[in-house]
Amino acid sequence: MTRTPVNVTVTGAAGQIGYALLFRIASGQLLGADVPVRLRLLEIPQAVKAAEGTAMELDDCAFPLLSGIDITDDAKTAFDGVNVALLVGARPRTKGMERGDLLEANGGIFKPQGEAINAGAADDVRVLVVGNPANTNALIAQRHAPDVPAERFTAMTRLDHNRALSQLAKKLGVSITDIKKMTIWGNHSATQYPDLFHAEVNGRVAAEAVDDQAWLENDFIPTVAKRGAAIIEARGASSAASAANAAIDHVYDWVNGTAEGDWVSMAVPSDGSYGVPEGLISSFPVTVEDGKYSIVQGLEIDEFSRGRIDASVAELVEERDAVQALGLI
Ligand code: NAD
Ligand code: LMR
Repeated sequence: MTRTPVNVTVTGAAGQIGYALLFRIASGQLLGADVPVRLRLLEIPQAVKAAEGTAMELDDCAFPLLSGIDITDDAKTAFDGVNVALLVGARPRTKGMERGDLLEANGGIFKPQGEAINAGAADDVRVLVVGNPANTNALIAQRHAPDVPAERFTAMTRLDHNRALSQLAKKLGVSITDIKKMTIWGNHSATQYPDLFHAEVNGRVAAEAVDDQAWLENDFIPTVAKRGAAIIEARGASSAASAANAAIDHVYDWVNGTAEGDWVSMAVPSDGSYGVPEGLISSFPVTVEDGKYSIVQGLEIDEFSRGRIDASVAELVEERDAVQALGLI
């Protein structure tokens, strides 16, 4: 029996991440090698032509799993029947733009997209926000989709998670697969907290295996937290292929489950766990079973970690209050 294609909507499809992401979705890496997909590409009117060019290339790959491509500049059309929504397109910060201006400009994007998801999404919709500021953009969209269960709105910290795995593996001379239970806490920003006190390297607490608090504080944490800026500085453009890779990892694990004895980082609406105010979209360690994620419970948080988590959560509270003051939520 042939399976019904899964509707995957990608916003900002003509951008850099879109270009690195769409071919991987169409080849089966987002959902599985036996799952057909129908792509819906949402762009602003000026970029529709470029998205059409990418769609021509997708056609030219003759992907057996790709059952069709629709391109639109209308959010309602893009999200009608959507099962997986990847919200990548966002308003980048430009010269002279204040933080409030950036939040307001993104509110103008994520509010109507939340409303369109509310109006037309499939019952099983899963939303991943990649466009920055990702956590708060996800909050805006979620608040405008009251009929969709709040937990279906997530934001991406998997790139930070993968960056942390890679930095730790290099430091210890181990392979990525030797490391389990990495966690990014908080915001996808420079305040995020990559946690080595619960991560394990071949069964040993990572912070103990490293045994170098100075490296942990002055090298590891800032390298991971500021990696996005370092890439912009080096490439002259923000991370694209690694961001697309992380989006693939995030959705694949959300749909197909996490490995036994391991967890991943996802920014999800807080249920109050670990003192994070309810409703804030903050990064936590999560496991996934039967397509549903759960925040890992019962971890002991020492004073050092507490301070770092609280600082990042405080930034999320500030962002939430700012968008509230702007009337965006
Ligand atoms: P880009 O500028 O190359 O592409 C963005 C695309 O979004 C453009 O084609 C633009 O036309 C489109 N767009 C803008 N407004 C839109 C709207 N209302 N509807 C649909 N499309 C719209 O940017 P990029 O490099 O692809 O990055 C996209 C976003 O992802 C940025 O906000 C970036 O900061 C963010 N990002 C997040 C992470 C993460 O880890 N969460 C990592 C890297 C980048
Ligand atoms: C990243 O982490 O690479 C990006 O979020 C950086 C950015 O500002 O786009």
